[in-house]
Amino acid sequence: MQIDRRTFVAATAASLGMAASPALAGLSKPFPKDFIWGAATAGHQVEGNNINADCWLLENLKPTAYAEPSGDAANSFELWRRDLDLVTNLGLNSYRFSLEWARIEPEPGMFSFAMLDHYKAMIDGCRAIGLRPIVTFNHFTTPIWFAARGGWMNPDAPQLFARFCDKAARHLAAGIDHATTLNEPNLAGLLQSLLPGGLLDADKAMAAAAAAKLGVPLFLAGNAIYQPDPAKVQANLQAGHTAGKAAIKAVRGDLPVGVSLAMLDDQEAEPGSLRDATREKLYNSWLRLARADDFVGVQNYERALWGRHGKLDPPANARRNIMGSEVYAPSLAGAVRYAYEVAKVPVIVTEHGVGSDDDTIRAWLIPEALNHLKAAMDDGVPVKGYCHWSLIDNFEWGFGYKFHYGLHTLDRQTFERRAKPSALVYRDFVRANTARG
Ligand code: BGC
Repeated sequence: MQIDRRTFVAATAASLGMAASPALAGLSKPFPKDFIWGAATAGHQVEGNNINADCWLLENLKPTAYAEPSGDAANSFELWRRDLDLVTNLGLNSYRFSLEWARIEPEPGMFSFAMLDHYKAMIDGCRAIGLRPIVTFNHFTTPIWFAARGGWMNPDAPQLFARFCDKAARHLAAGIDHATTLNEPNLAGLLQSLLPGGLLDADKAMAAAAAAKLGVPLFLAGNAIYQPDPAKVQANLQAGHTAGKAAIKAVRGDLPVGVSLAMLDDQEAEPGSLRDATREKLYNSWLRLARADDFVGVQNYERALWGRHGKLDPPANARRNIMGSEVYAPSLAGAVRYAYEVAKVPVIVTEHGVGSDDDTIRAWLIPEALNHLKAAMDDGVPVKGYCHWSLIDNFEWGFGYKFHYGLHTLDRQTFERRAKPSALVYRDFVRANTARG
């Protein structure tokens, strides 16, 4: 994808306008010196050829619910040094990425030192150029053998995950800056109400085909939309987080560990709305669990206006993302405020961004959302960092490569990455708003 002149001019204007924006002018003081400024990716979405992972099997199955297979992705398994350079070129100080469990433990109980060394090189590589590695131990994908044993439905799942966390932490924990156990586990089993209709049936048919192919009663992938028993999956994920965290802490007690939660900015649009019931269903048990953690990771992409009978349409003049949902700049701060209100531990924004081919939306969103985030911090909400999703355009799960969230474009044949104008807006914001000295 090329950046055309129009996009570039518009985003540059947004970047220049930023310095004079009233919201920014109102900022009382810069972001703290030790604030984490990052960009995020996840293994399966960028590495490529992740052949022992549940998703790989599903992407290449008939029927599949995936628009296309992940294939080479961004070839970041080979090109991770280039990715780190992209991060430093933007003047950021942190990179959030994930470990691929399927590479590290391709067969149950068989741990690959070569693969652990690969991630160690990434962690050391970050440190060598002054980046703080934020490492997600599991970002959705699980090994094929784990999914074939029923995935997170399996009563042994929490212990299997903790065993993986133990092995990975022994090899890697020394260099990690912050660790998260699981990515958005709060949505498992609850996604069917949020994603476009039809996906659930396709997901179910695909899982059944995978189970038949492997001759097992249940094949449940880490990012499955259809979950036969959402309550059981949720209980196992919570036990998995607790056991995984304990395993990491046993290796390195001073390493901050948390969990990343998917959160909307839920707003009450009329009295008696479903907002509070929704919050209870989607986040509260996780936020209460996070009280025992060192921080909570918040991942926000949109707000939701709740009425008495359900979610209301966004305002007619709303900016929209590629899915048609509203892009609302204060939504990040709204989600962060709520997370802190319940969890009462510091927050790291582990993801925030927008899926859009119109990069001017991203260029507008980043400074606006960050100004609102800063206002929340000035009100006393302890926010330790912000990671933009994503560093580069990548494999957007079921939607394949059609949806673009990146600060950089990706050429899928040459693997060339190019900064979009919004990346420079982010760079300039960080430069202008960070305390020096
Ligand atoms: C996930 C990412 C995903 C992003 C955009 C988050 O829910 O953690 O893996 O690509 O949202 O949809």
